[in-house]
Amino acid sequence: AGLQTQMLQGQKSAASEAQATLTAHVLYGTQTGNSEGVAEDLSAAMRAQGINAILASLDEIEVDALLKMDYVFIVSSTYGEGEMPDNAELFWDALIASDAPRLEHMSFSVLSLGDTAYDEFCEAGKQFDLRLEQLGAKRMVPRVDCDVDYEEDAETWSAGVLEELVLRKPEGSGDVAVPNGTAPKAAKSKWSRKTPFHAPVTVNRLLSGDESAKEIRHYEFDLSNDGPSYVAGDALGVIPTNDPALVSAWLQRLGVSGDTAVAGKDQSLEDILLNNLEISSPSNEFVKAVAERADDDHLKHIVDHGDKDSLEAYLWSKDALDVMLLHPNVQFSVDEILGLFKPLQHRAYSISSSSKAFTNSVHLTIASVRYDSHGRSHGGVASCFLADRVGNAASKVFVAPNKSFRIPENNDVPMIMVGPGTGIAPFRAFLQERQAIGSKGTNWLFFGDQHEKCDFIYKDELTEMQSAGVLHRMDLAFSRDQKEKIYVQTRMKENAKDLYAALEEGGHFYVCGDASRMAKDVDRTLHEIIAEQSGRNDDATTDYVNRLKKDKRYVRDVY
Ligand code: 2AM
Repeated sequence: AGLQTQMLQGQKSAASEAQATLTAHVLYGTQTGNSEGVAEDLSAAMRAQGINAILASLDEIEVDALLKMDYVFIVSSTYGEGEMPDNAELFWDALIASDAPRLEHMSFSVLSLGDTAYDEFCEAGKQFDLRLEQLGAKRMVPRVDCDVDYEEDAETWSAGVLEELVLRKPEGSGDVAVPNGTAPKAAKSKWSRKTPFHAPVTVNRLLSGDESAKEIRHYEFDLSNDGPSYVAGDALGVIPTNDPALVSAWLQRLGVSGDTAVAGKDQSLEDILLNNLEISSPSNEFVKAVAERADDDHLKHIVDHGDKDSLEAYLWSKDALDVMLLHPNVQFSVDEILGLFKPLQHRAYSISSSSKAFTNSVHLTIASVRYDSHGRSHGGVASCFLADRVGNAASKVFVAPNKSFRIPENNDVPMIMVGPGTGIAPFRAFLQERQAIGSKGTNWLFFGDQHEKCDFIYKDELTEMQSAGVLHRMDLAFSRDQKEKIYVQTRMKENAKDLYAALEEGGHFYVCGDASRMAKDVDRTLHEIIAEQSGRNDDATTDYVNRLKKDKRYVRDVY
């Protein structure tokens, strides 16, 4: 947060130098850094036009500060089922409060990032757009909702914003580009989703034991030869290819050859299915198209009248090919089927190494997704690409920064990490990082899974970290090694006093892993511990937790 505040101050001083020009605020709500990247690009483009652009994360802004802002551009992603990203949550709560300020003076526009695979597509951006209008602000450019392939739409929106702003610039003002603030800023990596680095996979090792219900693997990618740099807490985007066996099965079902030419493409059909499209997960359009042609009243009913849950139940443990195979009379032409698949996406995984400990490599810790159903074996696209197919060839990767997920700037404060299962990944990186810089703060890990015998991944490393005095406390919760369930939050409760004391010492509290159950229960337990240990009532406890969030001392990387 310190660096970001410095950057803000730097930009503010630039503002006073360029007083005659127009000032615009570009605010972002971000979960994985995509919105932040778009907001950064937009503010740089504004400055190049002589506009004084101020870039800030939504959690750095008080809602009352909007009273002094004439031009506000919000770039926000949506998290999970239509929720605000973590760093936008408090701002949003204040914006919808009954005492929120009227904003008649303000012009705004919203760019929302989302994923059409979710029902609540781009919900956060839609909500911001609606609320600002309700508060009287004027929409300068229509909102744009982007799907996962957001770059082009984001550029179109940004260009629209810029065009309108330039028209509003006072004549003759700010013809000189406004400097980009004074604080040093990391150069943008040349490796991105569109231009990934080809990283040889040098290690693929099974971490979980044979008796485990899971298959968790450790991967190392070679980044020498000009690979991207990363910071502990970042994620690595992996761009997979599809399973050739699945592609063959699709070609067979469609009754066409892989050599088939595709109109307007210089790739063969097989090549496109391998490299460009999500051929596993059934898109809504695909299911609709099947339902239209199939003799299947149940499916028709779900598509026409069903809700999200009934569709989800229908698709449970089916991939798109299963849906096709269940409806043998349905046929699609090559063009039709290609239009029903979504573009193949990268998968982002929390990095499990520190670049200070491993200067030329990056590590990932991934559970392979595999299941048998409908007489076929199914595999997760990227997890099985890494587990089974890439071998020691190169995988396309890029670093997805996660600037709010970082070790504490203060090396002396405690770090409390809750990371069961593969949730341990970023904490392995954090521990390595703190070891590398010789930080003195206490490191406390809560880890767990089903069974100690086969699921205690990185046991040797963690034990060594304990002996080396880097990992000061490790509380383990193996849920199925005894009759009653023991979870990470059970261990938190047992250590409530010490946990609260660590927070009071300025500790940072981190959670990584399952979002649907674990992270929610851990959050509830954190509230309970604070209330019980400090005697605060519910409101005061919420304030305490909100303060932690605001100070970036309670951050989560959950999925
Ligand atoms: P269980 O499946 O034995 O109930 C990884 O899946 C681990 O997380 C398992 O040990 C699992 O326990 C546990 N788990 C399941 N639900 C949880 C919850 N609500 N909070 C914390 N851990 C949970």
